[in-house]
Amino acid sequence: MKILLGVGGGIAAFKAAALASLLVQRGHELRVAMSRDAEAFVGRKTFEGLTGRVAIVSATQIDPDGTAPHITATRWAEVYVIAPATADLCARLAHGVADDAVSLAAVAFRGRRVLCPAMNDAMWNDAFVQRNVATLRAAGFLVLGPVEGRLAEGYAAIGRMVEPETIADCITGAR
Ligand SMILES: Cc1cc2nc3c(=O)[nH]c(=O)nc-3n(C[C@H](O)[C@H](O)[C@H](O)COP(=O)(O)O)c2cc1C
Repeated sequence: MKILLGVGGGIAAFKAAALASLLVQRGHELRVAMSRDAEAFVGRKTFEGLTGRVAIVSATQIDPDGTAPHITATRWAEVYVIAPATADLCARLAHGVADDAVSLAAVAFRGRRVLCPAMNDAMWNDAFVQRNVATLRAAGFLVLGPVEGRLAEGYAAIGRMVEPETIADCITGAR
């Protein structure tokens, strides 16, 4: 499959690298879009090395071949998975904001969109976050997780991103 992976600026971004690696190992073609803050957590070179493709890191990027990747990558991809989706990203997506590579691709992409939220439990339980995620569900996003498990803060609660293996299985129809 041709997969576009959107990476948000949360602690689980390192798991997006594991997801990218897994998808490539399974024979899928992958391109990565990174939100404005994603690079505070994982560098673009990690994704470029894993995918063999230039990462999309801004809403105004032009690729070396002169094309705008928010159009070429969204036409190319069969599925768009956003993992991790931060609270901030969920808010932007729910309002059609298109000011970074991940949200712009979400607006431009017309196929199956999969959202994997990951955040602290207090954030996940916030009324605005819940409303934004409900809006995204209603707009056709398949929302995977979050699940209960150990959070970065050191305790177990809801908010953990679904494991890369589960995401890979779900988006590629494996198992
Ligand atoms: C160490 C650290 C970890 C963070 N982890 C998360 C997280 O898991 N989920 C989340 O929604 N925000 C998290 N944040 C806050 C986001 O980084 C912040 O809202 C950021 O603007 C989101 O970037 P994005 O909109 O580009 O995804 C974290 C912040 C810090 C400093």
